[in-house]
Amino acid sequence: MTRARITGVGAYAPKRILTNADLEKMIDTNDEWIVQRSGIRERRIADETEATSDLAVKAAQQALERANLVPEDIEFIAVGTTTPDMIFPTVGNIVQHRLGCRRAGSVDMLAACAGSIYSLSIGSQFIQTGKYRRVLCIGAETLSRITDFTDRGTCVLLADAAGAAVLEPSDDERGIIDFDLYSDGQYWDLLYMPGGGSRHPATKETVEARMHYAKMKGNEVFKVAVRLFVDCAERILARNGLTADDVSLFIPHQANLRIIEAAAKRVNLPMERVFVNVDRYGNTGAASVYVALEEAIAAGRLKRGDLVLLVAFGGGFAWGAALMRW
Ligand code: UT7
Repeated sequence: MTRARITGVGAYAPKRILTNADLEKMIDTNDEWIVQRSGIRERRIADETEATSDLAVKAAQQALERANLVPEDIEFIAVGTTTPDMIFPTVGNIVQHRLGCRRAGSVDMLAACAGSIYSLSIGSQFIQTGKYRRVLCIGAETLSRITDFTDRGTCVLLADAAGAAVLEPSDDERGIIDFDLYSDGQYWDLLYMPGGGSRHPATKETVEARMHYAKMKGNEVFKVAVRLFVDCAERILARNGLTADDVSLFIPHQANLRIIEAAAKRVNLPMERVFVNVDRYGNTGAASVYVALEEAIAAGRLKRGDLVLLVAFGGGFAWGAALMRW
């Protein structure tokens, strides 16, 4: 079957930087705690005029330019996001119109921080089956909009960014070799936002009860996340007759440096072969793997023929892995 190959990657992060020192002035926290527990030093926060689609459009434009395509070439747009501009229409619709992708269908996928792997995998399917030849995959978030800046357990972690990748059919061994998508709703209340949906529509009471912010049992998420990370990485490698030794670069979801280090150690991947930028961006949800991929390319960390392992997990829980030949 034809593989879907990434032919252009783009990323965009808002200009405003929120450092740990800034957070020290806002809540009872300190730089040492944040760095030790999460590895995060600073993160980007969208300004009042920027919504998720604004970030997504910028990342997508860059990905299109790098793929040498024009918007009219795109046949489908797959967006991973937890923080759409509004409940509907989708970010995919807004991006489609703003970019001028006149031929493209679009969809948003809510798989929380696994939205990167979900959007990439769904996009890859359309290429593999031959249905479409040019698909735009996007992960975009303004997690700061659902962050309670009085809750020190979440506000030091969550942040804003967007990333995008153009997929086209490969005519050689390069491209997405395999992917796995998983979900397990038993963990839903470890990481969720209670307000604003059909269970608790917005009212004065839900706003006063701070129900329109992400709630997280960080410690419990941490333990399950490491196990799921390792399980899905090992499974996708084994199924393809590969081991950690074959992986040139591991690009994990950038949630927490300790999770990345613990997972890499258990999978037997030395940190020299793991891409990390959580220190500068924090947890950007569905955007994180795309943003990391873009930076890995810019830093010259990928060369033709390299085996790349991507893994992400997030609220739901939803998680997944993708394996590709660069
Ligand atoms: O994409 C998926 C998204 N979620 C994640 O990946 C989150 C996974 N979890 C984590 O990253 C970590 O659990 C955290 C970074 C959230 C927390 O680290 P931890 O080592 O699990 O700390 P903890 O929650 O067990 O809290 C330890 C202490 C507590 O104080 P006490 O009860 O021991 O006195 C917290 O109240 O640290 C306190 N604490 C803080 N102190 C300073 C919690 N947040 C902060 C803070 N600054 N920002």
